Amino acid sequence: MIGHTVIRLEETSSTNDLARDFIENPDADGTVILADRQTKGKGRLGRSWYSPPGKGIYLSIILNRPLQGNMSYLLCPAVSLAIAQAVEKLSGLKVLIKWPNDLIVNGKKIGGVLVEKSRKAFIVGVGVNLNTDLDEFPEEIRGRTSSLKSESGKHYDKEEFMRELFVEFERIMALLPADGGKEVLNNIKARSFTLGKNVRVVDGGAILNGEAIGFESDGSLLLKGAGGKIVNIKSGELE
Ligand code: BTN
Repeated sequence: MIGHTVIRLEETSSTNDLARDFIENPDADGTVILADRQTKGKGRLGRSWYSPPGKGIYLSIILNRPLQGNMSYLLCPAVSLAIAQAVEKLSGLKVLIKWPNDLIVNGKKIGGVLVEKSRKAFIVGVGVNLNTDLDEFPEEIRGRTSSLKSESGKHYDKEEFMRELFVEFERIMALLPADGGKEVLNNIKARSFTLGKNVRVVDGGAILNGEAIGFESDGSLLLKGAGGKIVNIKSGELE
């Protein structure tokens, strides 16, 4: 069960980094590391994740259960979907997912996912801005970042949010092997911020432009270039 053990800390550098210390525990699968603040919160692609005290969810879920075939690739979309569903349930806000895993409300990013693989397990990092005020965000992300409170005018309880998140994630993880990820991908498509748009993908040194036309069964993005050629993008960042 996800969250059977929640290790709560006032402060840590990064819950994803700390999670590595717990991977060897016999009951590691489903263990959650939760911090009230992170001093070196990590985002994707080497970015930092703004983690002020008491304002958001900063947690890592350890998964060391066997995941077959595409299931490990679908972890990221699955947890993004779980966050989107939990947010919608508690706030009524419409949440879209920007490929690969940005959570978007009213065009602004309210959360993200950083999945890291260690030798023994997956570490699923979840960051959600619950109660941050807009003028608190660092200048470089201000304007394109928001929080649930700023978008809805309501305050959110961390524990309640976590409970919803674990229920949704558990449900989605049980569904994945049953239908090979079809329902998860259909749900991702239905709430995609990306599909149908002309996008620019930066993947390491490579830059690709095209229309986002679909997803592969492993969650990778299908991009149709100017000449009509379809390219499968496994990782990268949309601009
Ligand atoms: C992103 O959108 O770039 C991913 C953000 C992930 C942030 C979370 S907060 C909890 C966990 N610990 C970290 O250091 N990062 C993830």
